[in-house]
Amino acid sequence: MGKTVILDHPFITHKISVMRDENTGTKDFRTLTEEVAMLMTYEALRDLPTVKRHIRTPVAEADVPFIDGRKPAVVPILRAGLGMMTGILSLLPAAKVGHIGLSRDEKTHEPCEYYINLPGHLDDRLVIVPDPMLATGGSAIQAVDLIKSRGAKRIKYMCIIAVPEGLKALEKAHPDIDIYVGALDDHLNDKAYIVPGLGDAGDRIFGTDQE
Ligand code: PRP
Ligand code: URA
Repeated sequence: MGKTVILDHPFITHKISVMRDENTGTKDFRTLTEEVAMLMTYEALRDLPTVKRHIRTPVAEADVPFIDGRKPAVVPILRAGLGMMTGILSLLPAAKVGHIGLSRDEKTHEPCEYYINLPGHLDDRLVIVPDPMLATGGSAIQAVDLIKSRGAKRIKYMCIIAVPEGLKALEKAHPDIDIYVGALDDHLNDKAYIVPGLGDAGDRIFGTDQE
């Protein structure tokens, strides 16, 4: 059984509040996305397995813990998930990286798949799936479906903002994964945007807002 964790640390909450402000421009929004992702990764990976190895310090011999197991894989959901990568990889510099390209149809709000490239040995790795926004949950569910179909068994999904309906849908579809949320917002509007949210995460990270 997986768990859902709302990461309400003041460092994370404060940075998300600045991201929400419509006056926050691309440069700051991008930096804040990276910083929030780094802080979320620090919290979400506190249960990484360790193994004791024998070493000699300048003072004595000791059995001390080191991180164990195969290198994790990080699989961002394109495009906005890419904005979280620098922060995540700053803590996991040797991680393998895959990509899942999904884009929401503006009318149906259903995710449409356009790119997949995943690392090998997913059955033996922790797989971290970052995406800033969990709205209807459709994109997250489809991405996790795909990653599981390639053998992954240990999955941690990470989003900066979620709404209860999307979170419930993801928990129902994939009860075995761990879900980490930076802030739980109120509801979706009629365009399936998170309220109050922060707008279109991809557009704000990449500066593609047309207005
Ligand atoms: C956004 C976001 C999620 C998705 C969430 O991506 O980054 O992937 O919407 O919505 P859902 O929970 O209703 O599926 P979008 O499809 O706008 O693509 P982009 O990242 O390329 O901007
Ligand atoms: N995708 C976004 O980028 N923002 C939302 O509020 C919902 C989906």
